[in-house]
Amino acid sequence: MQMDSRNLLLISLVLISVHRLPCHAMSPLFTQQFNSHVEVPSHAINDQVFSPQHLQKVFSVDDFGAEGKGNDDREAFMKAWNEACHSDVPATYLVPENKRYLLKPVNFYGPCKSIVTVMIMGAIEASSNHSDWDDDSTTAHWILFSNIKNLIIRGGGTIIGNGEIWWKNSCKINAKLPCTLAPTALTFFSCNQLRVENLNIINSQQIHVSVEECTDVSISNVMITAPEESPNTDGIHVSKTSNILIKGCVIRTGDDCISIATGSQNVSVMSIVCGPGHGISIGSLGANNSLAKVSDIIVDNVTLDGTTNGVRIKTWQGGQGDARNIVFQNIIMRNVYNPIIIDQNYCDSLVPCYDEKSAVLISGVIYKNIKGTSASKVAVNFSCSRTLPCQNIKMENIRLVGEGGKSTESLCSHVMLSKSEMVIPQLCV
Ligand SMILES: *[C@@H]1O[C@H](CO)[C@@H](O)[C@H](O)[C@H]1NC(C)=O
Ligand SMILES: *[C@@H]1O[C@H](CO)[C@@H](O)[C@H](O)[C@H]1NC(C)=O
Ligand SMILES: *[C@@H]1O[C@H](CO)[C@@H](O)[C@H](O)[C@H]1NC(C)=O
Ligand SMILES: *[C@@H]1O[C@H](CO)[C@@H](O)[C@H](O)[C@H]1NC(C)=O
Ligand SMILES: *[C@@H]1O[C@H](CO)[C@@H](O)[C@H](O)[C@H]1NC(C)=O
Repeated sequence: MQMDSRNLLLISLVLISVHRLPCHAMSPLFTQQFNSHVEVPSHAINDQVFSPQHLQKVFSVDDFGAEGKGNDDREAFMKAWNEACHSDVPATYLVPENKRYLLKPVNFYGPCKSIVTVMIMGAIEASSNHSDWDDDSTTAHWILFSNIKNLIIRGGGTIIGNGEIWWKNSCKINAKLPCTLAPTALTFFSCNQLRVENLNIINSQQIHVSVEECTDVSISNVMITAPEESPNTDGIHVSKTSNILIKGCVIRTGDDCISIATGSQNVSVMSIVCGPGHGISIGSLGANNSLAKVSDIIVDNVTLDGTTNGVRIKTWQGGQGDARNIVFQNIIMRNVYNPIIIDQNYCDSLVPCYDEKSAVLISGVIYKNIKGTSASKVAVNFSCSRTLPCQNIKMENIRLVGEGGKSTESLCSHVMLSKSEMVIPQLCV
């Protein structure tokens, strides 16, 4: 079953009630309502919330010595986490409001004994002292949650990456500098039954949110903001993850709003506002002759505003595997440079890429109800592999014109189109 907003709301209400009310105050009616509507994410959550012997316990970082006064609060955050994660009853890990906590790179490890709800109400800010990031093992992550089942993160607070010190040292900004890694603000690794909702994330060092090797994930009402010119600041990056819903997010950054990498299946991206940025991307896939697999992806009800790409699939030459069963529908584009693009000759390395024999197969892609304006003459660009053409690509009800209604064009190379209807620009004449 797909989690819809009513369920999310209901779950939120119940969770709020649970830690506001003593247990006996939960009326049978309320319990019944909850059970009749909520089938996801798991019975574990229902059981723990409703078994009478269980109360929520609150672990506030302030009670463990966090000050929020501009000194590093990592130690207090870790102490509070260790307690919350080992709690026998559902735990609320609280980051209080109206405070700003400075944090060096921090790892929140599971497994935990009970459900943990991380309530971020205040602000968490990354250290902007470069020597806090010297340790190689931590450079890839700022805040990492790993190996946790039944994790909820919410609270309306803000995560501030202070990415400025990293951006100016990026080889994409200053070509004289070597290309180095910068941290991802928020990483989820090997988490199962994960829910992230109602958070603000700004100015990450690099990727804002990365979901890796997780299953059953929902990310909703998350606002992600970084300057258009900030390098590699993807909004949400998904890899090796199945059953993920990303819904109701506003993402304005310097790179892909959402990128979906290899090993991902059953991915729903719904009701997203994106731009500036590089649009919604599947890929890049097949780098370094690797095997790629993505399938069952739907991107529905998205507005793209002033982005470089709209909906894009990108693969490197020389890869293997496939990307299949992909739907892009109900999309509005405003002034998007490459509204619809497949690029199977993607090359983002400093050394040139060579012609290779193998490719990642792209098959079964539907583009439906896509309207708006293209900032370039070519609104549809299918640049597929010469060795392995794109198969079963279908377009229906597309209208992409230039500013002021100017005519646009499509480009097709090595693409096998299924019967398509009502498509502007006219397909590949
Ligand atoms: C940065 O951290 C190092 C090592 O902890 C410390 O010696 C230095 O004073 C800090 N610099 C600033 C500007 O806070
Ligand atoms: C696909 O993912 C959704 C969550 O977005 C989940 O509700 C659904 O059960 C999954 N479908 C399958 C076939 O696993
Ligand atoms: C489409 O997305 C917008 C947010 O961009 C949202 O306000 C609207 O309710 C969504 N429409 C549907 C039918 O889900
Ligand atoms: C490809 O491999 C090279 C050498 O191992 C590495 O430096 C580079 O980052 C890899 N490229 C990608 C996109 O993974
Ligand atoms: C079409 O896409 C390919 C691959 O990204 C690119 O090399 C080419 O320049 C594009 N053509 C136009 C006219 O945008």
